[in-house]
Amino acid sequence: MAIGQIQAAVTGARPEAGDDALPAHVAIIMDGNGRWAAQRGLPRVAGHRAGVQAVRRTIEAAVAQHVGWLTLYAFSSENWRRPETEVRDLTGLLRHFIRSELDELHREGVRIRIIGDRGRFDTDIQADLVAAERRTTANTRLNLTVALSYGARGEIAAAARAAAEAVRDGKLDPASITEESFAGYLSTFGIPDPDLILRTSGERRLSNFLLWQSAYAELVFTDVLWPDFGASEFAEALAEYARRERRFGARPG
Ligand code: IPE
Ligand code: IPE
Ligand code: MG
Repeated sequence: MAIGQIQAAVTGARPEAGDDALPAHVAIIMDGNGRWAAQRGLPRVAGHRAGVQAVRRTIEAAVAQHVGWLTLYAFSSENWRRPETEVRDLTGLLRHFIRSELDELHREGVRIRIIGDRGRFDTDIQADLVAAERRTTANTRLNLTVALSYGARGEIAAAARAAAEAVRDGKLDPASITEESFAGYLSTFGIPDPDLILRTSGERRLSNFLLWQSAYAELVFTDVLWPDFGASEFAEALAEYARRERRFGARPG
């Protein structure tokens, strides 16, 4: 969140012009691939493949709409519980996506970050993820974060563990821990909190996504299944966001 927005919330002043209508950071729970495939009598993997096309369209839409930060929930820490064949299909698509899209994303000025427990993926995928992050590190047009094997409770527990270790090593005074300093131990360090969290497919839950960071996010739910998502659905979500009044606990001005 922009400092201006925090100050505006505290003082009751309006944020700077243009600050409030457009979310700086959109985070998306990409859901509904399986139902999309089932509706067509296709195997689930066909839905996941079509979902990859929606990822491409959404990245383009974010760039076109000047959204600076986009986070995509692609695989949750709980998704490992799916049948092995589906997990293999999903990791295969991930491998293929990085290899086939990295050049184009880099050319477009997209900076890639990965959050989640990447150590659970095959080592060749882990190497590709590191390479994608390194290669795009200087890009500034769109900050794309992909949540892979990500779970918010696991992330918060890991942050608590890291802080506890720092205390044990005499590097951290527990009394000095604040919301801001604790956030520095999260995997999203350096990424602004999402302004808008969007979930497709009609489900209305967060499914362990960005629980800390979503404290004041606007939640938007659409019935569209992820493989059908594109520029116009993205624009609709932005329009819905623009109609919301964010108060951050303060009184409306
Ligand atoms: C989202 O689609 C993709 C992942 C969670 C990896 P789903 O696979 O969850 O699709 P539905 O919810 O079964 O329709
Ligand atoms: C959430 O979708 C995870 C991702 C979109 C990556 P799920 O389909 O896994 O969530 P639940 O099981 O319906 O809550
Ligand atoms: Mg689902």
